[in-house]
Amino acid sequence: MSTEDPRELVGTGQVAEEKALEAALRPKALEDFVGQGTVRAQLSLVLESSRLRGTAADHVLLSGPPGLGKTTLAMIIASEMSAPLRITSGPAIQHAGDLAAILSSLSEGEVLFIDEIHRMSRPAEELLYMAMEDFRVDIIVGKGAGATSIPLELPPFTLVGATTRAGLLPGPLRDRFGFTGHLEYYTTEELEKVLRRSAGMLDMSVTNPGFAEIASRSRGTPRIANRLLRRVRDWALVHGVDTVDQDHASEALNTYEVDSRGLDRLDRAVLEALCTKFGGGPVGLSTLAILVGEETETVETVAEPYLVREGLLARTPRGRIATEAAWRHLGLTPPQTGQETLSGTAHEERP
Ligand SMILES: Nc1ncnc2c1ncn2[C@@H]1O[C@H](COP(=O)(O)OP(=O)(O)OP(=O)(O)O)[C@@H](O)[C@H]1O
Ligand SMILES: [Mg+2]
Repeated sequence: MSTEDPRELVGTGQVAEEKALEAALRPKALEDFVGQGTVRAQLSLVLESSRLRGTAADHVLLSGPPGLGKTTLAMIIASEMSAPLRITSGPAIQHAGDLAAILSSLSEGEVLFIDEIHRMSRPAEELLYMAMEDFRVDIIVGKGAGATSIPLELPPFTLVGATTRAGLLPGPLRDRFGFTGHLEYYTTEELEKVLRRSAGMLDMSVTNPGFAEIASRSRGTPRIANRLLRRVRDWALVHGVDTVDQDHASEALNTYEVDSRGLDRLDRAVLEALCTKFGGGPVGLSTLAILVGEETETVETVAEPYLVREGLLARTPRGRIATEAAWRHLGLTPPQTGQETLSGTAHEERP
């Protein structure tokens, strides 16, 4: 692992080596997909009913943070429908013509997966409206005054859109999906199941407390859980450990500076600067960024969301504040009368 990017371990984005490994660890059937009970049950109804009717399934929109299983679900939809799958992404479709070419080559019942659908260009989006609703596109031939539009019928297909930013999707596009599934962060128990399955595929032996330890450091995200599992595997191999128990998992992940709550070096640096240099805040974002030697944007978009989600940091109009839970997590005593110190609300401290 390179030490260049401190976010490699607990960041939610994909790391280069990860693509092939992720593909291998992806569940292929809906029943192997762990957690997300509500979405799974609803989706299963949508698919089953279209199978009974013998038609292509309704268009499906999947939204939620990175690494929670949107791409995995899109692939499962195609395989559950025994339909071919075409994969593209919003940024790849810059011209309406790009999309028209894809749409006009779809076969009946095919699943078209558009990842990052919120990043599609406006003209392509408008073309998609008609295709989704009427299974028809108008192809423009020629330029200027001589241009004519030729209507083209499309075979019924299923569009699966994925987005990390459902709020950025224009209403008319959102409304054309028959079903929207929002993926939530996973519980520790669910992540343990994901890990157990992955360990089986990686031929790793891990005790139940070992799984629990890795799961509790995985930030509610299967992608991170699988990544930490691979790092634990490296550690175990080098240390000649056959069966990974809780102490091994803990020691391995401490080596990679992923702490008991899944915070990495930058997350901790932010909290430490807040607590030890400013008595818990409030501190302006730019000051905080300078103190930890990072860009303002990195602190705001990379470290903060998880700290806020965990109830360790709060944003106020006057700046950032460390919560009582943050002090405790760092092993510090929260100031007695600090009006500025909020008590952690989202989660109780874990030992
Ligand atoms: N419910 C699940 N059960 C088991 N494994 C899962 C589950 N969800 C995700 N994973 C695993 O996590 C990894 C990441 O999932 P996936 O690529 O589907 O996330 P994503 O939501 O598409 O992320 P992004 O927004 O970055 O594209 C996959 O390798 C997959 O094996
Ligand atoms: Mg994806």
